[in-house]
Amino acid sequence: MRIAMIGTGYVGLVSGVCFSDFGHDVICVDKDASKIERLENGEVPIYEPGLEALLTKNVEAGRLSFTLDLAEAMEGAEAVFIAVGTPTRRGDGHADLVYVMAAAEEIAKTAKDYVVVATKSTVPVGTNRKVAEAIRAANPDLKFDIASNPEFLREGAAIDDFMKPDRVVVGVENDRAAQVMADIYRPLFLREFPIVTTDLESAEMIKYAANAFLATKVTFINEIAALCEKTGGDVREVARGMGLDGRIGNKFLHAGPGFGGSCFPKDTTALARIGQEHASPMMITEAVIQVNDTVKRRMIEKLRDMCDGSFNGKKVAVFGVTFKPNTDDMRDAPSLTIVPALVGGGAEVHAVDPQGHREAEGLLPHVKWNSDVYDAAKDADLVVILTQWNEFRALDLGRIAKSMCTPRMADLRNVYNADDAKAAGFEAYTSVGRRPFPDE
Ligand code: UDX
Repeated sequence: MRIAMIGTGYVGLVSGVCFSDFGHDVICVDKDASKIERLENGEVPIYEPGLEALLTKNVEAGRLSFTLDLAEAMEGAEAVFIAVGTPTRRGDGHADLVYVMAAAEEIAKTAKDYVVVATKSTVPVGTNRKVAEAIRAANPDLKFDIASNPEFLREGAAIDDFMKPDRVVVGVENDRAAQVMADIYRPLFLREFPIVTTDLESAEMIKYAANAFLATKVTFINEIAALCEKTGGDVREVARGMGLDGRIGNKFLHAGPGFGGSCFPKDTTALARIGQEHASPMMITEAVIQVNDTVKRRMIEKLRDMCDGSFNGKKVAVFGVTFKPNTDDMRDAPSLTIVPALVGGGAEVHAVDPQGHREAEGLLPHVKWNSDVYDAAKDADLVVILTQWNEFRALDLGRIAKSMCTPRMADLRNVYNADDAKAAGFEAYTSVGRRPFPDE
């Protein structure tokens, strides 16, 4: 099959590359000339494990190419995917659909034969119908069908998520479109991964509901963690005890400094707005957004306590700034709230991140960057683990403690425990939802 993919951002690029690996002929289109040039040279503009190798393999096999010209990509395409950004609109929190609607109009202008227009971008319920109207208005003679095909890729594990999904969700209006989508996903279907074929609105809602539910789960355990800190108890034990209940499950129960990333913050905000707009308030989601904010602020107070009440004149080493490991993505990372509070309070911040340094540099001014954790921690008053990169899981804690001015650690991802820290010579250790050391 021949497929056009509009947008070479995270979702578009991963989907385009993976579709070509299924054996389809894929042309990825973007308006950004420098991005297309880099991709044509086999350079992947984002950090995602395995993506560059898969891209190169499929370009070499002649199944994957890149262009600035949508008309060229639409030539003979049986399906065109819209995978452009839907950022939160300034001011009102709605998902901004300008890029989606612009893509729809361009499809209308360039399509010649029957084509399925599938939306991968996360869009509010009802958007696919608007896309169809826009195409119809711009080109009344075009024969096409619309499909909603939301994406559930996790950054850092995107290739695996695409190739071995828990499910594929497809919203369509008729059998013809369902058949085209089934042909596209045939390799997954053959390996018995479930494909949920449903109506447009349900497919659109599944994406928001799934992300909001996961964000709720994370936020719930973060609140339990705060309570454990007051009552005693270890949130990791609580999460384990809860997660073994098959109805709850053990995933997304890791307490930490609050969720971030390109999806949870944006999608919870958009879902809350959709609820308000339809006079059907999403009160739980609204609370999740608020609590997540509180969680980040609570972390700042935790760090302030570890600095005897003031950041002024303290040297703080921050390990990890990306919103999670295995990505260079800084969007809505907790570090964007926590690090400026340290700097603003007068601390000298030294940061280390295996991949995020380049992205973070402009976003976190006044931070000094180190490539080595041991250099960053030297003479520091506090070490903060903010992202649980594998590189930070087997540190020589004794060496770190010895080189610090005051050996104290705030482990906001619960990578270590109080006993490890004590044995390594730390004088204080705090984490999330567990007893600190020394115990006050
Ligand atoms: C998410 C969804 O998982 C994916 O299906 C979706 O379509 C896009 O959004 P992603 O944003 O890449 O993926 O990251 P994810 O691994 O889901 O983590 C989201 C945030 O929650 C991160 O900030 C992470 O640190 C946090 N989190 C996650 C926790 O704090 N605890 C957990 O137990 C799980």
